[in-house]
Amino acid sequence: MNSIKLIAAGLAASASLIAFNAKAEGSLNLICSADVVICEQMQGDFQKETGISVNMVRLSSGETYAKIRAEARNPKTDIWWGGTGDPHLQAAAENLTEEYKSPMLGELQDWAVKQAESADYKTVGIYAGALGWGYNTEIFASKGWKEPKCWADLLDPALKGEIQMANPNSSGTAYTALGSLVQIMGEDEAYDYMEKLNANISQYTKSGSAPVKAAARGETGLGIVFMHDAVAQTAEGFPVKSVAPCEGTGYEIGSMSIVKGAKNVENAKKWYDWALSAPVQSRMKDAKSFQLPSNKSAEIPKEAPRFEDIKLIDYDFKTYGEPERRKALLERWDREIGAKAN
Ligand code: F6P
Repeated sequence: MNSIKLIAAGLAASASLIAFNAKAEGSLNLICSADVVICEQMQGDFQKETGISVNMVRLSSGETYAKIRAEARNPKTDIWWGGTGDPHLQAAAENLTEEYKSPMLGELQDWAVKQAESADYKTVGIYAGALGWGYNTEIFASKGWKEPKCWADLLDPALKGEIQMANPNSSGTAYTALGSLVQIMGEDEAYDYMEKLNANISQYTKSGSAPVKAAARGETGLGIVFMHDAVAQTAEGFPVKSVAPCEGTGYEIGSMSIVKGAKNVENAKKWYDWALSAPVQSRMKDAKSFQLPSNKSAEIPKEAPRFEDIKLIDYDFKTYGEPERRKALLERWDREIGAKAN
């Protein structure tokens, strides 16, 4: 055999070896409910480190919950990574997710383990972050509007058409806002507040972080979002300031669950253990994901809004993670707010 033939034969052999390995390692169907940049980073890193090929779709938290419910008899998803904890708890309560006690649980913060315990290990906490908003400092300065420090300030008539938030049916961020306002004000007062706020809202977006991305680009003055999503825009160089509301605010325990009946359950467990590890969580900041990591040894990004600096409510994850509570709150929101949206 001449040398060219030898090289060609070698290449063919290694190509079939790669194909064999990919087949041997198999695949994983992932729904990712965090920002698309971290979703793609996680997908790429896991594929590189394990040889398992990952089919990833990015969907908001409420959309994913609806999809997993709809596919319960024939699951197309193996693992759900990211998104607010409430819909993960609702999925667990409806037995749509699989119990799994990861060997990594001992490395996690108490809030992440509590999330797992409260759902009989059908979910687990992967990160945490507080709700607030981000506003465009240039727009506010040029219009002479005062800094919006409190929920009450968002009702200022000057802000008509200048605020965006997501729709709580699709977005976990907006469901957290709904749950937080009800816990801070009481249910009737919270709906009354949201009805008044509606006058200033130009759009209810599908994804939770879209409002502050719009504020960053000057398309709106302010977006009600998780504070880490506002900080991410500041880190991108946009004139965005993040605010922790003066009356207090709620927070998320971003979560992860294995789908019941997952076709690739062993690979889902590999992802689960991997995603709870300190090195993987420490790399989240490279994608400008500035949540607080659940692994105690993971590096906390310097940009991450710290809970010690924020007036946090004792968010009742158990009650607001119940399917019946979700249904009732969203039906009332659709009737009293969504139906009257601008
Ligand atoms: O952008 C990241 C993030 O805020 C996560 O911290 C959170 O879990 C998720 O997005 C919520 O997204 P959505 O509101 O679209 O469900």
